[in-house]
Amino acid sequence: MAAAGAEARGAWCVPCLVSLDTLQEVCRKEKLTCKSIGITKRNLNNYEVEYLCDYKVVKDMEYYLVKWKGWPDSTNTWEPLQNLKCPLLLQQFSNDKHNYLSQVKKGKAITLNNNKALKPAIAEYIVKKAKQRIALQRWQDELNRRKNHTGMIFVENTVDLEGPPSDFYYINEYKPTPGISLVNEATFGCSCTDCFFEKCCPAEAGVLLAYNKNQQIKIPPGTPIYECNSRCQCGPDCPNRIVQKGTQYSLCIFRTSNGCGWGVKTLVKIKRMSFVMEYVGEVITSEEAERRGQLYDNKGITYLFDLDYESDEFTVDAARYGNVSHFVNHSCDPNLQVFNVFIDNLDTRLPRIALFSTRTINAGEELTFDYQMKGSGDMSSDSIDYGPAKKRVRTVCKCGAVTCRGYLN
Ligand SMILES: C[S@@+](CC[C@H](N)C(=O)[O-])C[C@H]1O[C@@H](n2cnc3c(N)ncnc32)[C@H](O)[C@@H]1O
Ligand SMILES: [Zn+2]
Ligand SMILES: [Zn+2]
Ligand SMILES: [Zn+2]
Repeated sequence: MAAAGAEARGAWCVPCLVSLDTLQEVCRKEKLTCKSIGITKRNLNNYEVEYLCDYKVVKDMEYYLVKWKGWPDSTNTWEPLQNLKCPLLLQQFSNDKHNYLSQVKKGKAITLNNNKALKPAIAEYIVKKAKQRIALQRWQDELNRRKNHTGMIFVENTVDLEGPPSDFYYINEYKPTPGISLVNEATFGCSCTDCFFEKCCPAEAGVLLAYNKNQQIKIPPGTPIYECNSRCQCGPDCPNRIVQKGTQYSLCIFRTSNGCGWGVKTLVKIKRMSFVMEYVGEVITSEEAERRGQLYDNKGITYLFDLDYESDEFTVDAARYGNVSHFVNHSCDPNLQVFNVFIDNLDTRLPRIALFSTRTINAGEELTFDYQMKGSGDMSSDSIDYGPAKKRVRTVCKCGAVTCRGYLN
């Protein structure tokens, strides 16, 4: 079946990326008026090129097979190159073709067969890549719709054909499982006029204010953070409200090229000792963690994070429900450090987990933390629970650090 109104996207008008201005120009050249053939910007959108699927040469003319947005594959049509007004899609097609050839190490191989058509394996790869790009874009849009913090989330895969994870749901805060209650209003609030200089919420808990004037953490690992809360008299600009403001940086979930699956990199420079993100997931009891630990494979287990600040009653499981921290890989020489945080929930069995930079992290650098490190910086007990009943299968660490311990667990 040809797309209805196919004549409108006929020989001269393939409206990918065509603004009304350029369309009018085309019409002028073709001595047509847009009105005379009934094209408005609205039905232009009906004939938007979604991606290019294939390529051939017929009588020295180049053609691309077009997948139309919103139309099934059966309506794909071959369009001559000169009609394609989509430089980005053409570039993408060419890049994908070259990537494919470099991957199969036939960089200089002939790409066209005797009929001057693209070799089927190449076209197949290009279509898969196009579909993946659309799926990842959709996922990126969804993550940004769901997140409630300032920083943007980007998704990028220039490495393989892996699409969005199939069983992962983005959440902004802990998701307690039935029977676990998270208090959402503190029992105490300060009445400081200046929380930086006065005896504020941290003093009430017997600890120092965690931050300096530049919003950097100044307390040693293992020390809890007590931020001002909903009962405090101070406003949102109080220097003791950092973690609660959420991630401020634009981060990118990217496909690693060293076989670690997805990872997270920062797209902007992060100053040392700055709050980067919170570790969230389902809050479960340690018994449930033990049960799940036995069900999970080696990979699943690495999402279990024991809340062992003062007790070992609860675990955070970020396997199915989580935020960007779900994708942060392990390094034996990490650039993020874990801290326990109390804001509205002052129950010491249920701290929030915040990740702070340990040094300046440049734009483009991967973010990592040490899976074996407790908030205290003490390595004697694992924060990631491997489930004692299950025979531990060790995962080889690919962090590449000079000080790499060799294994994740
Ligand atoms: C919490 S997840 C991190 C995100 C994960 N890479 C993904 O694609 O969803 C932990 C898993 O990532 C992989 N991983 C993380 N850090 C690694 C490392 N340093 N070396 C090897 N694999 C690693 C392992 O498969 C591990 O079980
Ligand atoms: Zn305050
Ligand atoms: Zn306060
Ligand atoms: Zn390592």
